[in-house]
Amino acid sequence: MKAIFLCAGKGKRLRPLTLSISKHLIPIANKPILFYGLEDIKNAGIRDVGIIVGDTRTDIQEAVGNGGKWGLNVTYITQDNPKGLAHAVKVAQDFIGDDSFIVYLGDNLLKESIKKLVEKFTSPDNNANAMVLLTKVENPQQFGIAELDNGGRIVRLMEKPKIPPTNLGIIGVYLFDKNIFSSIDSIKPSVRDELEITDAIQHMIDQNLLVQSYVVNNWWKDTGKPDDIIEANRFMLESIEGDIRGQVDAESHIAGRVRIDKNSKIINSKIRGPVVIGKNTIIENSFVGPFSSIGDNVRISHSEIEHSVVCGNSIIENIEGRIDASLIGRNVVLRKIDKKPRVFRFILGDNSMSELT
Ligand code: G1P
Repeated sequence: MKAIFLCAGKGKRLRPLTLSISKHLIPIANKPILFYGLEDIKNAGIRDVGIIVGDTRTDIQEAVGNGGKWGLNVTYITQDNPKGLAHAVKVAQDFIGDDSFIVYLGDNLLKESIKKLVEKFTSPDNNANAMVLLTKVENPQQFGIAELDNGGRIVRLMEKPKIPPTNLGIIGVYLFDKNIFSSIDSIKPSVRDELEITDAIQHMIDQNLLVQSYVVNNWWKDTGKPDDIIEANRFMLESIEGDIRGQVDAESHIAGRVRIDKNSKIINSKIRGPVVIGKNTIIENSFVGPFSSIGDNVRISHSEIEHSVVCGNSIIENIEGRIDASLIGRNVVLRKIDKKPRVFRFILGDNSMSELT
C-alpha cells in the first residue's frame, strides 16, 4: 500500500498567508498541517509516499525532504496546471503502479488514526475496490455527499449538491485499488471545470465495483479558511502536554499546560495554557491566553493575545486591548507607536482582514 498527499492547491481562501507559504505548511500548534498526515501514514505502516505538488514544491520539499525523519520514502510528483482532485490522483499513476493506495488531502486534519482502515483494506478478505471516509456535516451543500445502503456500501455520490439527500460529507481521505485510474479516464470535467474525484468514484459504483464507506465520529477539519486554522489550533492544543525548556523569570506566571521551546524567554508575563511557544521567542510584559500558538523568533511585548496563531518572526508590541481569534503570518509587525498625529497605518497584503474597535 502506498499513500499520496494532494498538495498542489493554491489555498486561495487563505490569502494573503498562502501567497508566501503553502497552505499545507501553515502551523497548527506550531507543527505544519501536512506533518500530522505524514505521521498518521507512518503509524499506519505505510512507507512509500508521493506528494503531489504545484507552485509550492520548493517549500514543501524543504520542509519534508526525503521523509527520512518519519522513516518514509517520499517522492515528489508535479501537477502542472491543477485540474481537480481526480487529475491530481491521475498524475500519480506511474508512482502507484498496481498497488492499492490511500489519498490524503494535504490540508485535512483527522483525529482518528487511519491504521485500522489501512489494515482492513489490505487484508486478504477485503473485497472493496474503494473506501471513502465520511462524517456528518452541518453544511452538506459545501461537500461531496454520500448515500449508503444498509450495509455501508456507497450507492451514490454527489459533489456539493444544492439539495443534499444526506448529511454524510466526504472528508479528504480515500482508499483505492487501481480501478480508480480507468474511472478517472472515463469522466468529464465538472461545472467548476475540474476532474472531480467524486465523479470518478461514482463511475466505479456504476461499474458495479464495491465502494465502502467509513463514518468518522471523531473530530475532523478541512483547514481551508482562517477560522478553520484557529479552530484546528484550539483542538490540537487541547491535548498538548506542558514542557518548559525556555526561561521563565521570577516575575512571570505560567498556568495550565504550556510548552515553551528552547532559547525562548518569558519576562514579567502571564501565560495561561494550553499554549505553545516556539524557539527564540520573547514574551515580555504581556499576557498569552488559552489556545494560542506562538511560533519561533516572535517578540510580543506590552500586549495581550489569546485564541490565536502567530507564525514565525513576527513582532507584536504595545497593542491596547486583547488580540483574539487572530491568524498572524510570518514577518508581520503589529505595533502601536506614540507619534503625532495619532493615525492608523496599514500595509496589508491582498485579501487581508483587520478589525478595529
Ligand atoms: C473536496 C472534494 C469534496 C470533499 C472536500 C473535503 O472539495 O471535492 O468532495 O467533501 O474536498 O474537504 P474542495 O475542497 O475541492 O471544494
